[in-house]
Amino acid sequence: MFEAGVFQARRLQLVASLREGIVLLPGHVESPMNYADNIYPFRQDSTFLYYSGISRAELYLIIDVDQNQTTVFGKNPTIEDVIWTGGQPDLQELQERSGADHAKDIQELPTVVARAITQKRSVHFLPPYRAETARQLEVLLPEQSINQHSQALACAVIAQRSVKEPRELAEIEAALEITGKMYHDAMRFTEDGKFEREVAGLVEGIAIAGGGRLAYPCILTKHGQVLHNHHYHRRLQSGDLVVQDSGAATPSGYASDITRTYPVQGTFSSRQRDIYQAVLHALEDGISSIRPGRPFRDVHLTAARTLTDRLQQIGLMRGDLDDSVDSGAHALFFPHGLGHQMGLDVHDMENLGEDLVGYDGQIRRSNQFGLKSLRFGKAPDPGYVLTVEPGCYFIGPLIDQWRVEKRHQAFINYDRLEAWRNFGGVRIEDNIVVMPKGCRVLGPPIPKTIPDVEAVCSG
Ligand code: GLY
Ligand code: MN
Ligand code: MN
Repeated sequence: MFEAGVFQARRLQLVASLREGIVLLPGHVESPMNYADNIYPFRQDSTFLYYSGISRAELYLIIDVDQNQTTVFGKNPTIEDVIWTGGQPDLQELQERSGADHAKDIQELPTVVARAITQKRSVHFLPPYRAETARQLEVLLPEQSINQHSQALACAVIAQRSVKEPRELAEIEAALEITGKMYHDAMRFTEDGKFEREVAGLVEGIAIAGGGRLAYPCILTKHGQVLHNHHYHRRLQSGDLVVQDSGAATPSGYASDITRTYPVQGTFSSRQRDIYQAVLHALEDGISSIRPGRPFRDVHLTAARTLTDRLQQIGLMRGDLDDSVDSGAHALFFPHGLGHQMGLDVHDMENLGEDLVGYDGQIRRSNQFGLKSLRFGKAPDPGYVLTVEPGCYFIGPLIDQWRVEKRHQAFINYDRLEAWRNFGGVRIEDNIVVMPKGCRVLGPPIPKTIPDVEAVCSG
């Protein structure tokens, strides 16, 4: 983790953007799988991590806005803790690591919060997304509804965490180095007869060997048309396309989020080439149109236009290009958004409110099918880290539904589509940072062009 001065500077910036009161940040508690001692791997709340750097369970941070003083609340380890979980830092050490002004026993926390309430000061807290955190807040703030979370705090945190510091970009690129190895090794290892789970196991092992973990459960499937497919039971066969969406997180918690699609037999068929190339062009056109001040919704539509154009050339779509994109007909093939912010969370800060993070007074979320799933639509500033992830999928039940409803039939060639319904899907995803004049693709090159993918797959 970074040195204490980094967290002090971040807290100072936060304090400067709030008028008064205290900020109450509950850290995470352990989460049991099936009984108390059998726990999921611990992951600290990302905002707590951002302002403290401490990845330990059962802590709270109180930032006094008026005094610019920070206190860590927790417990010193007992001899039982030492026996079962090894040496743990005590409160003094946590105070030093985070650059906090004070460290206090957790028993003192209710009094501190109650005093602030009596003094009619604001107690700023973020919307809880875990039941345990909601319960902690209910106990500390009995008179207040947990729906009364602080919009001012959420907006200040979003403004700050959206612009990545150079040290954060270095962390994300370190995560991408590990992710690059995942793709290289998985493409090499994949062959006819292997099960998806064997490749998924290899991928997860690389994340753990890298010192961190996966930033989110890996998608590794030959049924890429199921967007959140977390099953790995199928046997891969020549002719199948694998959609792999996976990213390592660094030990300090920074994410990466990459997708590649590759052929089990090492080379793409002619149809696979056409669709792959369409998605790759959509990715490239999207990336080259990103710049500060340009709404990401328009970048999404640029990618959608390229995809539509290509699908028209293949014969699956037709009609006026502009009208087709305006109508949203392409969402039959590309029903999700082009990207989202990424940082400590793979969908960065989504817990603070998807619209608060991704939209603003200028750009409001659409309710059109497809575009409504775009998580980030507003214009980014330099330093924003985003994913760019166009896809093209053949989703049988959706094709059937639209065909029966005669939806967008001026733009979709349903007769031709019948022969494609078992194609599966293609997605290609990169991570970029917005620069003063455009953007930069983060991390090492991960095979993406057809010759590069085929070279690694059949190497
Ligand atoms: N891996 C999650 C996503 O691409 O949004
Ligand atoms: Mn992804
Ligand atoms: Mn993504």
